[in-house]
Amino acid sequence: MINTLSRPKIVSIGAGNIGATFAQYCAEMSLGDILLLDIVEGLPQGKALDLAQASSIRGYSVRIMGSNDFSDMKDADIVVVSAGFPRKPGMSRLDLLEKNGKIISEICENIKSYAPNSIVIIITNPLDIMVQLAYHILGFPPKRVMGMAGILDSARMSLFVASELEIDPTQVNAMVLGSHGDLMVPLPDYTCVNGIPITQLLSKEKIEKIIERTRKGGAEIVSLLKTGSAYYAPSASAVRMVKAILQDEKSVLPCAVYANGEYQITGYFVGLPCVLGRVGVEKIIELPLTQEKLKELHYSVEEVKQGIKQLRELGFPIPQ
Ligand code: LAC
Repeated sequence: MINTLSRPKIVSIGAGNIGATFAQYCAEMSLGDILLLDIVEGLPQGKALDLAQASSIRGYSVRIMGSNDFSDMKDADIVVVSAGFPRKPGMSRLDLLEKNGKIISEICENIKSYAPNSIVIIITNPLDIMVQLAYHILGFPPKRVMGMAGILDSARMSLFVASELEIDPTQVNAMVLGSHGDLMVPLPDYTCVNGIPITQLLSKEKIEKIIERTRKGGAEIVSLLKTGSAYYAPSASAVRMVKAILQDEKSVLPCAVYANGEYQITGYFVGLPCVLGRVGVEKIIELPLTQEKLKELHYSVEEVKQGIKQLRELGFPIPQ
């Protein structure tokens, strides 16, 4: 029996494409022991066993388990939730509101019971709204509840910039704030190639095209796959957050976090740059924004507010 006492416990709720790819990346990076949880019988167990059987070949010695029993998440350090319905072609993320709201509610009741000290990362769409719902059900301090999306949207923008300039995407550092939807707010002024702002390297028209493609980044993949949505880059983004937290990196990353006055937003979750460390969201960084970008950010928060209002009207327990 391997001694697991010193390793963090990472729980992935949802053993679909995102949950399983997330588990794979976590294993490859030896970030901790991994529990795949899903309501479909056999699915998390099968995927966990398959991943575990790759251990001696891929060179990881973490434990990977699968379960249908929520109580197995006991003592989790971090819980990542991707369970829910993905988008199909023609659907907006908002179309998933009620169905995924029910799933997130049930899952969060269980996290609250079995892993009350964990840090929770939500991936399920419509992302910013699901994080807000999770926050109200969990009752955890806001620093322990967050959503993945800013890293994904920024990574997409980085790739599009790199392709346009025919350079290495790892040298591009993009910054996308706001909600995870068509109203997201890509910030070209804060997007750099090894420190050089892209505004010095690309024409306004080219930057506009990159912004447009970034906003539609998820939909582009949905329309190609036809039966579901992206999973490699979304999982990689969640793993980036998990690593920053478990290794107490204090990395600055855009994530869906609870704004308490920052950017003149109060009481809502939306994508903002923050510092991630072992306690979760350690700080939100306030970048000076132009009036235009601040307006775009507030406009994207309006969309989140509308979704929250809809959930409330549907009877979900979200206070005014
Ligand atoms: C995307 C989905 C996961 O952006 O929201 O690909």
